[in-house]
Amino acid sequence: MSRRRKIYEGKAKTLYEGPEAGTLVQHFKDDATAFNGKKHEIVDGKGVLNNRISEFIFSKLNTLGVPTHFIRRLNMREQLIKEVEVIPLEVVVRNVAAGSIAKRLGLETGTRLPRSIIEFYYKDDALGDPLISEEHITAFGWASPQELDDIMSLGVRVNDFLTGLFAGVGIQLVDFKIECGRQFEGDMMRIVVADEISPDSCRLWDVKTRKKLDKDVFREDLGSLIDTYRDVAQRLGILTETENALTTGPRLVK
Ligand code: TMP
Ligand code: ASP
Repeated sequence: MSRRRKIYEGKAKTLYEGPEAGTLVQHFKDDATAFNGKKHEIVDGKGVLNNRISEFIFSKLNTLGVPTHFIRRLNMREQLIKEVEVIPLEVVVRNVAAGSIAKRLGLETGTRLPRSIIEFYYKDDALGDPLISEEHITAFGWASPQELDDIMSLGVRVNDFLTGLFAGVGIQLVDFKIECGRQFEGDMMRIVVADEISPDSCRLWDVKTRKKLDKDVFREDLGSLIDTYRDVAQRLGILTETENALTTGPRLVK
């Protein structure tokens, strides 16, 4: 066995060289972070759940013709992905006021927005991922106007899909974040959805109880993050209620 080459290590995931050219392996860690890494804990089994939830969502997007970097899940914590040139933006789509927009604009959390709103943040931890406008993106060349059109249309398509998916299991999609990349194939380039889509990168509220079912549980210390993510996975039909081989392997039966 030879050691894999690590390409990049982020807060919640690591990327390794893939088995063939143009591919990478995306490994989901158990690290939970918030507030630009100031709050950090290891949540046993979170990586396994996010790998499964993200696989589920990206597979469905691929089937619907929304291009993504996802190829297939390899094991409990890893998936095979297409190598892309990451565009340094966090693309946030919001349906309901919560989080930073509620604070910034003085909106009451839970207010439905007049329409879905797309925001861009520049991905730079040292700067705390500042909110930017389309002008900044094109002026600094982070994406061209045509690419920005493609990114916005991906955001809208993902929002439509996720809204319906979650509504079907009693969950309101408040907002979410995606990242996009350029995928090159011969002479062709297309913009695809990259990174992950999981309760780490969405705000999800139970339709009836308004209970939070996402990383806000960790940000705001509201309870067990792993039980929350397991609930989301079970509702989506990814895990059966008895499936518990999620964390570190065999469990002692007491
Ligand atoms: P915000 O309200 O804090 O700006 O977050 C908007 C959405 O983006 C929310 O669903 C959480 C997600 N998000 C990330 O995935 N990563 C981040 O670094 C931040 C700040 C938010
Ligand atoms: N993902 C960011 C962090 O790790 C911020 C967040 O999601 O709240 O700090």
